[in-house]
Amino acid sequence: MAASANSPSSESKVRIRPASDEDVPTLTELINAAFVVEQVVFDGNRVDDLGVRAYMSGGTFLVAEDSGGLPGCVYVETRNDRSYLGLLSVQPARQGAGLGGQLVAAAENLARESGSRAMDLRVISARGEQLLPFYQRLGYEVICTEPFPENLVAKVPAHYILMSKPLV
Ligand SMILES: CC(C)(COP(=O)(O)OP(=O)(O)OC[C@H]1O[C@@H](n2cnc3c(N)ncnc32)[C@H](O)[C@@H]1OP(=O)(O)O)[C@@H](O)C(=O)NCCC(=O)NCCS
Repeated sequence: MAASANSPSSESKVRIRPASDEDVPTLTELINAAFVVEQVVFDGNRVDDLGVRAYMSGGTFLVAEDSGGLPGCVYVETRNDRSYLGLLSVQPARQGAGLGGQLVAAAENLARESGSRAMDLRVISARGEQLLPFYQRLGYEVICTEPFPENLVAKVPAHYILMSKPLV
């Protein structure tokens, strides 16, 4: 999170739309820039172009767009009557101005339109101090914890915290 809140002055010009194939390289760059903060737990980039394309084949990226490019994105995947929210990313220079909250709301609307009655997400415990209050303010509750899969090598002891929100 940035040291001081950024101005929301450009927010009115931001529109949120589904991503297209042409957005893949920009999405990869955006997600990796936002997720640098997770390198306290995992080494390396969060995604590459191939990975972003794989996500796109299983769900939808929503991107925030304005005259400066794509300052944010979120991934939504619907599984039966629940949806999963992931890869919520806001360019570091644009954080703290409400864009993350707007993207979560847009993801929830998309999930509702797809017939979902709840949204699920996962937070890495080592980042819980920052992320739990953020999601709790948006109506999410902690459901349980889950260990990382064995093939995921963490640099510090950590696990997933699962959160959910009813969408009715
Ligand atoms: C998590 C993330 C998406 C939030 O995006 P954001 O645009 O900063 O979110 P918002 O501005 O909507 O909300 C941030 C909250 O922190 C508060 N805040 C206060 N000062 C702030 C500051 N200097 N910087 C950032 N946020 C600040 C905001 O007021 C807001 O609180 P609110 O919910 O009570 O309004 C963004 O920090 C990010 O991309 N992080 C890296 C990737 C990540 O961790 N993704 C989530 C994985 S589960």
